[in-house]
Amino acid sequence: MMDSLMSAALAVRENARAAYSNFQVGAALEDLTGRIHTGCNVENATYGLTICAERVAVFKAVSEGAREFRRLAVAADTETLTPPCGACRQILWEFCGDIPIVLLNPRGKSETVRLKDLLPRPFDASFL
Ligand code: THU
Repeated sequence: MMDSLMSAALAVRENARAAYSNFQVGAALEDLTGRIHTGCNVENATYGLTICAERVAVFKAVSEGAREFRRLAVAADTETLTPPCGACRQILWEFCGDIPIVLLNPRGKSETVRLKDLLPRPFDASFL
C-alpha cells in the first residue's frame, strides 16, 4: 500500500539531477511532528561531489530544525530495490538511529528494512 511518505519519495525522484548516471533517486524523511522532508540525488561533473537523495533529505530536515525522525522512504527505478549507500547509512545512523526504511520502485514493489540491519555494529558518538 502506497502512503504519503512513499508518494513523496517517488515524486521528488523526478527532480533528481542525475545527468551522469541517469540513476534517479528520491528520499522522503518523516519527522516526529509528521512533517515530510524530501531529497533527490544531485550530481556534479566532478563525480565525487555528488550527493545522494538520502543525505539531501537528512540535511534539509536538520537545517529546518528537525531533530527526531520516524521513517524514511527511498525510491528508485530498480527491480531489486535500492538501499542507501554506505555513506548514507552512517549519516542516517547519526541523525535517525534505527529507523524503518521503506524501499520502493515506481511499479508498486516495496519492502521495509531497519537501519540496524543495513548497518550492523555502527560507529557513533558513544565511542568518543
Ligand atoms: N544514489 C542515491 O541518491 N541514493 C542511493 O541510495 C544510491 C545511489 C545516487 C548517487 C548517484 O547520483 C546515483 O545514485 C548513482 O550512484
